[in-house]
Amino acid sequence: MTQSEQLLSQLEANRVAELDELLTVLKPKVLAHIAKADPNSPSYQKGSLGTYHEPAVLKEKFFGPQSAAAKLDKQPQGNSDELIKTIDDILEYSVNTWNPGFLDKLYASNNPIGVVGDLLLSVLNTNSHVYTVSPVLSVIENEIGKKYAKLYFNTDTAGGLTFPGGSWSNITSMHMARALRYPDTKAKGNGNHKFAVFTSKHCHYSVEKAAILLGLGSESVFKVAINEDGTLNVDELKKTIAQAKEDGFTPFYINATAGTTVFGSYDDFTAISAVAKANDCHFHIDGSWGGNIVFSPTQRKKLAGAELADSFTVNPHKMLGVANTCSFLLVPNLSHFQTSMSLKAPYLFHGRENDEDNYDLADGTMGCGRRPDALKFYLAWLYYGTQGLASRVDHAYAVVDYFVNLVKQDKRFQLVIEDPQCLQVCFYYKPREDIHDLTAVTRYISRELHKAGEYLVDFSPNPTKLDSPEFFRVVFNSPILSKESVDGLYNAIIKAGDEYTE
Ligand SMILES: *Cc1c(COP(=O)(O)O)cnc(C)c1O
Ligand SMILES: *[C@@H]1O[C@H](CO)[C@@H](O)[C@H](O)[C@H]1NC(C)=O
Ligand SMILES: *[C@@H]1O[C@H](CO)[C@@H](O)[C@H](O)[C@H]1NC(C)=O
Ligand SMILES: *[C@@H]1O[C@H](CO)[C@@H](O)[C@H](O)[C@H]1NC(C)=O
Repeated sequence: MTQSEQLLSQLEANRVAELDELLTVLKPKVLAHIAKADPNSPSYQKGSLGTYHEPAVLKEKFFGPQSAAAKLDKQPQGNSDELIKTIDDILEYSVNTWNPGFLDKLYASNNPIGVVGDLLLSVLNTNSHVYTVSPVLSVIENEIGKKYAKLYFNTDTAGGLTFPGGSWSNITSMHMARALRYPDTKAKGNGNHKFAVFTSKHCHYSVEKAAILLGLGSESVFKVAINEDGTLNVDELKKTIAQAKEDGFTPFYINATAGTTVFGSYDDFTAISAVAKANDCHFHIDGSWGGNIVFSPTQRKKLAGAELADSFTVNPHKMLGVANTCSFLLVPNLSHFQTSMSLKAPYLFHGRENDEDNYDLADGTMGCGRRPDALKFYLAWLYYGTQGLASRVDHAYAVVDYFVNLVKQDKRFQLVIEDPQCLQVCFYYKPREDIHDLTAVTRYISRELHKAGEYLVDFSPNPTKLDSPEFFRVVFNSPILSKESVDGLYNAIIKAGDEYTE
């Protein structure tokens, strides 16, 4: 045996004992990482949120990309000592999302069932492209997709599949729209059509990328003006479509949003659906962020008209705290996936006679190998119950209310949207009357909060008024947020503001 053969045979000799050993070493480290960030734990450490990247503080506890690269550039040695040390570093220097001060970027902390779901996925190592290798997880995805889709659509045929993220859901929904309305395009491409896509002015660049990828070109994307609250202006939509038609375009896709990224606004779905119908367009709703209010009996009315959509993207990994990533594309008729996507590749998808359902899930996608992310949502829903998920959403809305009322009583705070529709609150903070550069204050304070390791909050320019200053965008999306943590944030902003000099 060569040396490396010997090493391999040792390593794989007893996988059970080996995993046992690794898990045993890892378990206390993982629990300590969470305990450090959990206010209910005796080992909670204030300021345990984690990494802050700025040259001035690199020398201290935190480090920037270069020193991170240096620290993690290890000589692979084939033993577990270095591995354990490295795991310690990874835990130590990462942002600790279990901390209630993590109020950034829409997703929230993971939770115990999320860790269990990920662990199971890893142990099973299933590829959910075909049924033969994924009998259980494919059925689970099919079932949970139907159950989820039926919360939105009133059809018996509703269902959904997971995609690796919003961008893939984007592209897939656009492709589906074209393939269903213009089936010839599957074989012949765009032919003589100059297809046109309609979305709001501040939409993500990925829509343009999708249009490029589908051979429509970025000039086929028409950006419709928005109202002050960030919703799509329906009159402008009608005008833009009419103009595009006059210019020889074939409108086929309209994108609306349930919970915009900056303001959290919900479009007028009923009105947009009518425009879509009148112009033979596919009506897509991007509910990646705000779609999950469907679980809350008090909030779900904001989705009125969403049942008229042709497709709906929603991410359990955001508002529902399912472990990253878990993103569904839901449709009123599940067979639309196969109709628009399948190439009938018999070497891979053997099909199963008499089955009404397709369990070869990849046949309904543009990809092949897939991670069975649906399992994580399935387990979380099972564990918390529908009521538990509703409480999670309602709790988050109550926290938003509490914060909004708190800052409304303080003249130094100014809300950008008086009545937030979703879980983010956008506001300015002006510590003193003589301060003028609000962008600078916003950036200074959010940096100070992060440096202290207590709060990570985002800031943003105003998508409807690009020349106005940047404001705070704080996302209250976590079941562990308490009155104390919100008061703490309020006080921390004031304290940092007091230290600010222009
Ligand atoms: C986060 C977000 C996305 C992107 O979803 P990913 O699955 O994270 O790629 C899309 N649309 C909206 C409105 C979002 O908030
Ligand atoms: C498309 O993808 C981008 C990037 O992930 C995202 O921000 C955008 O809003 C997505 N839209 C949908 C429909 O998911
Ligand atoms: C839909 O609109 C939202 C918000 O304007 C945007 O984030 C998203 O990328 C758009 N998606 C598509 C597929 O047009
Ligand atoms: C669902 O779509 C398929 C084709 O994609 C079609 O054959 C079927 O009739 C549709 N069902 C309903 C209820 O619309």
